[in-house]
Amino acid sequence: PALTPNQLDVIQGDIWSKGFPKHNETYYLFKIAPGSATAFAQCLRKMVVDQPELISNLKSTKKARDDIAAKKQRAEAASKLGQPNGKPEKLHMSFALIAFTYKGLNMLNEVRKTDPAFSNGMKSDGDALNDPITGLDPLLANADEIHGLIKVAGCSNGSVNGRLGKIQAALQRGTVIQDVPGGTEGRLDGATREKPFRGKEHFGFEDGISQPLMNGIDDTPPSPDSEAHALYNMDTEQSILIVTGTTRHENSSARRPDWMHDGSFLVFRKLEQDVKAFRQLTASFATYQCESAAHMGAKLMGRWPSGAPLALQAYNTTDAPPADHGKVKVMNNFGYPTDGGDKEPACPFAAHIRKTNPRRFGDWGLNSGDQGLKFAKMIRSGISYGPDYADSEPAGLQRGLLFACYQAFIEDGFQHMQASWSNKTYFPKSDSGLDPIIGQVPEGEVLKTVITNRTAHIEVPITTPLVTFRGGEYFFVPSIAALKGALTE
Ligand code: HEM
Repeated sequence: PALTPNQLDVIQGDIWSKGFPKHNETYYLFKIAPGSATAFAQCLRKMVVDQPELISNLKSTKKARDDIAAKKQRAEAASKLGQPNGKPEKLHMSFALIAFTYKGLNMLNEVRKTDPAFSNGMKSDGDALNDPITGLDPLLANADEIHGLIKVAGCSNGSVNGRLGKIQAALQRGTVIQDVPGGTEGRLDGATREKPFRGKEHFGFEDGISQPLMNGIDDTPPSPDSEAHALYNMDTEQSILIVTGTTRHENSSARRPDWMHDGSFLVFRKLEQDVKAFRQLTASFATYQCESAAHMGAKLMGRWPSGAPLALQAYNTTDAPPADHGKVKVMNNFGYPTDGGDKEPACPFAAHIRKTNPRRFGDWGLNSGDQGLKFAKMIRSGISYGPDYADSEPAGLQRGLLFACYQAFIEDGFQHMQASWSNKTYFPKSDSGLDPIIGQVPEGEVLKTVITNRTAHIEVPITTPLVTFRGGEYFFVPSIAALKGALTE
């Protein structure tokens, strides 16, 4: 079923393929002060009722996105007519979301353990995910202290700080809530990169292209028998894979209580990126029979920096995007055809986007019993942090991705993708190698990926990891209705 108008009112506004518009963003981690659970519930309820604009719902995000699109269109039309004012107007906007760890929720209510990954926390999953336990950001190292998260996005640091300040005031920061210790005011800040890298993550690739669509807020899904339908990957009802509600596990005893409906689980991970290591690896392209460093990078990611899928543009070293660049439909209008027998020349099986979304897997009939092929879906909503890399930079600068994703089941979404796909060589078929971008191996082992071309499968050892986990946690993002009732059953 499509999302109802009521759901657009109560689902928090970042849980959507388009998510909060943002240039700047902060993740503020808080704990509920000892003995303050009741006071916290009161403040929360009062905030959501008296200042409903502070926590954004889907309707407000959608409206903001529509306004931005309309302004852009007006500006483009004006500039075509040669009128001044051809630049898009600056929009002063900010958005916020609130989420809780299991520990935090449990301070407010006795919470049923319906979702084991969530109730055990990310640290308990560390072995399955091959997460390192050292080198964590101090703010995230002591996950036991984290009860909640406020994510604020906006057009500038000023707008982010302004909204965060209002929410902190409503929740009585300093008395009722406290900053999680170990960092600067409990915050991790990110920002979209400046032109000409806007929209690109630190390795230089366009991000945020392929997302599950939700019926009722995204454009009408294509009809089930059209080609576009399969390409859109709308064959499963995506909203139930993202928004919590009726469980897909039919015989599950773990039925979620009503207050957990219309929420989503947020997986948050600080992932440091080693741009120098990425460049060094791609500079060794000749060893791996690639045409250029850019070609090698595209083999690792599965897309060219422009976002053009390797599956459509195998050898186009000009990196030209598809004709209708920018239209998500076109950028996602591809599968992984079987033109190389059991070799796939264009896009290696291990490429990041192929590992995390093998698309039309039926063509291959390989490992098609993997339940994840139907259910492993997530909406990603990360943001870059840290300065751009420069060869001449002083040692010690750090950068990466504040990775965030939403799903209705952590076990089906993030956990499945990371542990059973990216970290395993047998997916999507045997000897595929690990995901070169996010794959993780146990400490002391070397991550190996495999690059394919028309004639060969070549193993690539990645001696310096391109991405390193610096801590994170699992959160639940309740519906605004649940916040109003301060989460009672
Ligand atoms: C897609 C980069 C972490 C899951 C992409 C894309 C890029 C990218 C450039 C292509 C753009 C797009 O389709 O939107 C990165 C980097 C990461 C990172 C640099 C770490 C620093 C992760 C993690 C996961 C993940 C931790 C999940 C476990 C996905 C998925 C897609 C994707 C599901 C879309 C695949 C598709 O539908 O074709 N990523 N990513 N990524 N990534 Fe990541």
